[in-house]
Amino acid sequence: MPRQFRDTYGPIALVTGASSGIGLAFAEELADRGFDLVLTARRTDRLDALAERLLSSHAVRTTVIGADLADPETPARILEATLGADIGLVVSNAGFNLKGAFEDTDALAMAKMLTVNCHAPLQIAHGMIPRLRARGHGGIVFTGSVEGLIGCPYSAAYSASKALVVALGEALWGEMLGTGVDVLTLCPGATESEATAGMTGLANLQGAREVAKLALDNVREGPTFVPHAHYRATFDHLRALPRREALAQMAEGMRKRA
Ligand SMILES: NC(=O)c1ccc[n+]([C@@H]2O[C@H](COP(=O)([O-])OP(=O)(O)OC[C@H]3O[C@@H](n4cnc5c(N)ncnc54)[C@H](OP(=O)(O)O)[C@@H]3O)[C@@H](O)[C@H]2O)c1
Repeated sequence: MPRQFRDTYGPIALVTGASSGIGLAFAEELADRGFDLVLTARRTDRLDALAERLLSSHAVRTTVIGADLADPETPARILEATLGADIGLVVSNAGFNLKGAFEDTDALAMAKMLTVNCHAPLQIAHGMIPRLRARGHGGIVFTGSVEGLIGCPYSAAYSASKALVVALGEALWGEMLGTGVDVLTLCPGATESEATAGMTGLANLQGAREVAKLALDNVREGPTFVPHAHYRATFDHLRALPRREALAQMAEGMRKRA
């Protein structure tokens, strides 16, 4: 099975946001499956250390690209740097959230978040899809969020950014049918990472490695995939409710938690 997986999606995977959390878990899981890696993030010291570790543990060759995705030119630089690399799997994962009342959210931070969470996946997918299509087999995994499945009060801007990722992934899943290129939008709920490290009272926290493993095991099961049963049930329930009722319930729940 791992051999077959690597034959379809290997030999090289690109992972953005691989310096911690879910992206780091993707890198480790892919190394386990025999992939060579192209890893991006701002903290290249972490990526260099990871590359060294994966070389000695798995004989994996890693290319590290220092990349600040809040700069709108960075995706083009990643695409340029990877020209000629036989990348069969793209994991567009880098992202961050801003929580709280919308009117209290910092405007500049919001602009940066949209550049990292939305502009980067759009541009990276736009550049990589012709390469994957030409190979006739491969895949793209977008890390979205359950918060992209319905507007989430007190997480309005982040939720909206992930709704773009979900819509992008769904649309591309449709466009790539029959091309041999699989598209999966991973929609995690609360997952162990630096993003959740400071948060208290989070129930149903899932391990990042489990999320990455389940995503790769289900890369053919797009368009979207929620890796935790609790969040699958919760968001299926919310989306089945009349929208006004669902949003009022969610807003009330968030106000009680604050
Ligand atoms: N953890 C959760 O509960 C959860 C739930 C749903 C969805 N997600 C999504 O999962 C993805 C990974 O997040 P995580 O939870 O694993 O958090 P994390 O541990 O904070 O990791 C975020 C990763 O994104 C990179 N990143 C952030 N800003 C960047 C920038 N300006 N330029 C380049 N890279 C940047 C970080 O690298 P550097 O800081 O080194 O640049 C890091 O590698 C995100 O898209 C997030 O929205 C997380």
